[in-house]
Amino acid sequence: MDVHVSLIGRDNLGGEIHRQLRQAILDGRLRAGEALPASRELARRLGVSRTTVTRAYERLAGEGFISPRVGAGTFVNALPAHSATSLKHGARTGVLNPRQVWKEIPFSDDFAQSVTYDFRCGQPDAALFPRDAWNRLMRSALQSNVSTGAAYGHPSGFRPLREAIARHIGISRGVACSADDIVITSGTQQAIDLVARVLVSSGARVAVEDPGYRPVRFLLQSLGARVAGVRVDREGIIVDTIPRGTRLLYVTPSHQYPLGVSMSLSRRLELVAWAERSGAAIIEDDYDSEFRFGGRPIEPLHALDTSGQVVYVGSFSKTLLPALRLGFMVTPPSLRSAVHRAKYVTDWHSPILAQAALARFMDEGGFARHLRKVSAVYRERHEIISSALASDLGDHLEPIASSVGLHIAALARRASVARIHAVVQRAAQRGAALHPLSRFSMGKPLAGLFIAYGGIPTRLLSEGLSLLHGCFD
Ligand SMILES: Cc1ncc(COP(=O)(O)O)c(C=O)c1O
Repeated sequence: MDVHVSLIGRDNLGGEIHRQLRQAILDGRLRAGEALPASRELARRLGVSRTTVTRAYERLAGEGFISPRVGAGTFVNALPAHSATSLKHGARTGVLNPRQVWKEIPFSDDFAQSVTYDFRCGQPDAALFPRDAWNRLMRSALQSNVSTGAAYGHPSGFRPLREAIARHIGISRGVACSADDIVITSGTQQAIDLVARVLVSSGARVAVEDPGYRPVRFLLQSLGARVAGVRVDREGIIVDTIPRGTRLLYVTPSHQYPLGVSMSLSRRLELVAWAERSGAAIIEDDYDSEFRFGGRPIEPLHALDTSGQVVYVGSFSKTLLPALRLGFMVTPPSLRSAVHRAKYVTDWHSPILAQAALARFMDEGGFARHLRKVSAVYRERHEIISSALASDLGDHLEPIASSVGLHIAALARRASVARIHAVVQRAAQRGAALHPLSRFSMGKPLAGLFIAYGGIPTRLLSEGLSLLHGCFD
């Protein structure tokens, strides 16, 4: 690829060519071993004399950035590591200052770090992803008229996918809705972002569960909302402690994140009545209830809501892959038009080829078959962890009963929060990654562990659990 050099005005043209090429080498845009354009060619492109370019090249060569090779061209030299970083950062420090909130939101770069025994939250088993089927479906989406038009689509998403989702959640979750109520989003996270953008002004009071799902809390903070944490007990969020004036509440009723409790029917009724009384909106995040290993499925809040105040949100991150970035929301009629506009100004619409592939997967019955297959795998992992917690590990941890999803939470029987941290650190040194429950708290931290089983193969599970047991000694 040709390196970009732009000349404005007629002053010091050689100096400018030298400066821009030098910067491209320091930035890594021009890498060691790459050829510079021939001097005659660059002179022609820039409308300058060849001598101007040759002088700039000679200067760069004199400084050691490039070397001419007779008969072959001029090539970029490898830079000593320290000179590259010091010059690069020195030139780029900049004066722009992000808003304070962006300095406060915790963020770690260890997303891709792989470990042998991975009990961390948030992931399904990538080995179970239906690769062959997805390959075929993407190819056929590419060959269909979905990819032949150049126009943008409707912000609400690809209609056949919205129809397939409406049917799916109608049957599997009792969420009564039509394709018109559905908006396809870039995962749950974007669905919540859209709802918050249309409902929450800066300084508005919003509430989340405590302990709870951190990305949503941070998102709401970043929008300038005042975020309150509301305690959760064995029946779910404690409704009568939700602060007065709350405009928006985020909850995970089917499988509280992270504790794993299902919200009791009386709490769900209380919560819907609270929303009606206060005029607030509720976001119901139903992120992993497709995986159920016992007990009766609980009715979503959406099914109890008669006044259109519950926004039901779902995701394909757990059922398929987070990398797809596909989720959806069931939008109450009063918010629909604003949400379409918010999606339009955010990213217009989610990628259509992947939506078309997923629509076909659901219509052909592949998604339902896939869910049955992976549920059987996760059920086995759930049983292995439950029986470890009922035996050896149970000396240290008391599991919170749950038969849904991809994780089990367990409270420490005796250990303090600090001791649990030490256990997690010891586990990390021995090749097992997991999160302490305290990570999810806003107020008083809970001593316990979050044990997720999406990311650890079944064959390694018992080994990983005995390693964990050893970390308590
Ligand atoms: C509570 C909760 N909600 C939703 C999600 C999925 O988010 P997304 O659809 O943005 O990938 C996760 C994933 O870990 C989660 O833990």
